[in-house]
Amino acid sequence: MSQFKLTSAALSVCFTAVAGLDISALSPKRAEIPPQVNYTELAGQLSNTASIFLPGSDIFDDVVSRWSNLSVPVANVVVVPGTEDDVLKTVNFANEHSVPFLATNGFHGSITTLGKMTQGIEIYLSQLNTVQISPDGRTAKIGGGIRAKNLIDALWAADKQTVTGACECVGYLGPGLGGGHGWLQGHHGLISDQYLSFDIVLANGSLVTIDETSDLFWGLKGAGHNFGIVTSVTSKIYNLQYPKYAIETFFFSGDKVEEVYQLANELWITNGTAPEGLNNWSYWYLDPTIDPDKPVIVIYIIQEGVDTVDPIHTEPFHQLRPIKSEPKSGDYRDLAAWTGISLADGPCQKTGNANPRFPIYLKAYNPQTQKQVYELFHEATSGPEAHFANSLFMFEGYSQQGVKAFPDDASAFAYRSDNLLVAPLLIYPPSEELNQEAYKLGNQIRQVLFEGSGMATMDTYVNYAYGDETPASWYGSDSWRQERLAALKEKYDPEGKFSFYAPIA
Ligand SMILES: Cc1cc2nc3c(=O)[nH]c(=O)nc-3n(C[C@H](O)[C@H](O)[C@H](O)COP(=O)(O)OP(=O)(O)OC[C@H]3O[C@@H](n4cnc5c(N)ncnc54)[C@H](O)[C@@H]3O)c2cc1C
Ligand SMILES: *[C@@H]1O[C@H](CO)[C@@H](O)[C@H](O)[C@H]1NC(C)=O
Ligand SMILES: *[C@@H]1O[C@H](CO)[C@@H](O)[C@H](O)[C@H]1NC(C)=O
Ligand SMILES: *[C@@H]1O[C@H](CO)[C@@H](O)[C@H](O)[C@H]1NC(C)=O
Ligand SMILES: *[C@@H]1O[C@H](CO)[C@@H](O)[C@H](O)[C@H]1NC(C)=O
Ligand SMILES: *[C@@H]1O[C@H](CO)[C@@H](O)[C@H](O)[C@H]1NC(C)=O
Repeated sequence: MSQFKLTSAALSVCFTAVAGLDISALSPKRAEIPPQVNYTELAGQLSNTASIFLPGSDIFDDVVSRWSNLSVPVANVVVVPGTEDDVLKTVNFANEHSVPFLATNGFHGSITTLGKMTQGIEIYLSQLNTVQISPDGRTAKIGGGIRAKNLIDALWAADKQTVTGACECVGYLGPGLGGGHGWLQGHHGLISDQYLSFDIVLANGSLVTIDETSDLFWGLKGAGHNFGIVTSVTSKIYNLQYPKYAIETFFFSGDKVEEVYQLANELWITNGTAPEGLNNWSYWYLDPTIDPDKPVIVIYIIQEGVDTVDPIHTEPFHQLRPIKSEPKSGDYRDLAAWTGISLADGPCQKTGNANPRFPIYLKAYNPQTQKQVYELFHEATSGPEAHFANSLFMFEGYSQQGVKAFPDDASAFAYRSDNLLVAPLLIYPPSEELNQEAYKLGNQIRQVLFEGSGMATMDTYVNYAYGDETPASWYGSDSWRQERLAALKEKYDPEGKFSFYAPIA
């Protein structure tokens, strides 16, 4: 008990740095800190803008809870660094005391390998959120704890933009270290294709700059969660070229699943003429106001630089007679709300639900397979016995030219040759029984998609992965990729300190 008293009393010095914080709420209620670790010592080493939170406070509870409440990492202390050097000090302190640690930012990492962290320090990067645009306006130095919306808004204010994730509350580095998809990838490539250099705390306890002259640079762009904590990154940025955007959203009855995806293939794949500035997504979900019995098929056709989506892209869908369609126009910043991933939408709330996804990359749609998985999804979501009624099936058809413009071996991201990112997202309150059921169903759906794809390997986006896939599926099964990554891991993180998120080995 005296350990806690001493710790929390001394720590209150840095707690006062957090505006409006009730210090009395911070006295720990649970004896969760291993007695051999004295966090007051760490507090003494950090800058006065850093904070340390112990269990039993609302802030602690908030920052350890996550978007997906399934196989979550467990921390007994949360450090919020105020400076890049605080990250270094925290990592060194953790290493000296053999305490595990994990960087967090947007809390949307959901891979179940995170559950292997059963104690230790969460290093919550939210204060490292600055954006400094270079004098020539071509690059920006961006804090490792920034989230997508903050970055988009900061650049927009300077008439600039870059590739970020589409969801406003998701981190910028979390997606980028695994490749990183976004609306602007058709022009510029993946999020990680924009990265020019990283300031990063490595396992050996150094804060170093890694750029193209280092062998690690390649690995950070696709398998980056394995190697360190990025305190800031310098990225390419661009002048705002097509601020205007238009969307047309179509709602189809599930009866039309084959026709809809047959058409999607003909329009977008077979022709191979889809422009860079067009993105096509679709979702399936149960909306009883549209169809009480079965999930609706929602097709989003999104085009940049226009007020109305060109009818050459939309007219064929009108001819399939949707239940309804809705055109909207606005600018780039509206895309998140249009597709249900703005700060106000469900994916940005922590609900206590489990949110596993079972992703697979595809080259094209197989209309018969789409029908088969639609039936499985229908059963899982509809009717009195359905356990996954709030689930969402996602089909992301980002434009690809910018991604394919880089050679296949440009970075550790292995899937430039695939075209579609497909994943059922099963949403439910977690329980032993439902976890099992979701696992079985998710893998069943994915297996059907795989068999129908004719592809030789199961390609899964590491950032959507469930967690039971293999490193070969997250990082590519080519032996040169596996060998190169294993060698980097052996060189830069031989003890596996950065191995909670989709470990290479
Ligand atoms: C609603 C939703 C929308 C999404 N949209 C997209 C999208 O548009 N494009 C896309 O590519 N992906 C998207 N994703 C997937 C996303 O890439 C992953 O969920 C990612 O892990 C989220 O990062 P985070 O910072 O929000 O989460 P966190 O859980 O905070 O971080 C995830 C992991 O990233 C690592 N990490 C985070 N920051 C750093 C850092 N600075 N240095 C080192 N390691 C770090 C840590 O290992 C951490 O465990 C989406 C996910 C959800 C749930
Ligand atoms: C913890 O560290 C602080 C600062 O160094 C020190 O004052 C205190 O006595 C330590 N507590 C214990 C129990 O060792
Ligand atoms: C840690 O590794 C980096 C990259 O190889 C190197 O530059 C740095 O000197 C190393 N630091 C220590 C303390 O060994
Ligand atoms: C795709 O090709 C078909 C057949 O050549 C043609 O009729 C159609 O207009 C094309 N669609 C687009 C969007 O270019
Ligand atoms: C997460 O799920 C567990 C059951 O596995 C539950 O006890 C807990 O309350 C949930 N967490 C939140 C934040 O709802
Ligand atoms: C649309 O989706 C298809 C897959 O159906 C994909 O190949 C294509 O690149 C996507 N993007 C555009 C711009 O149409």
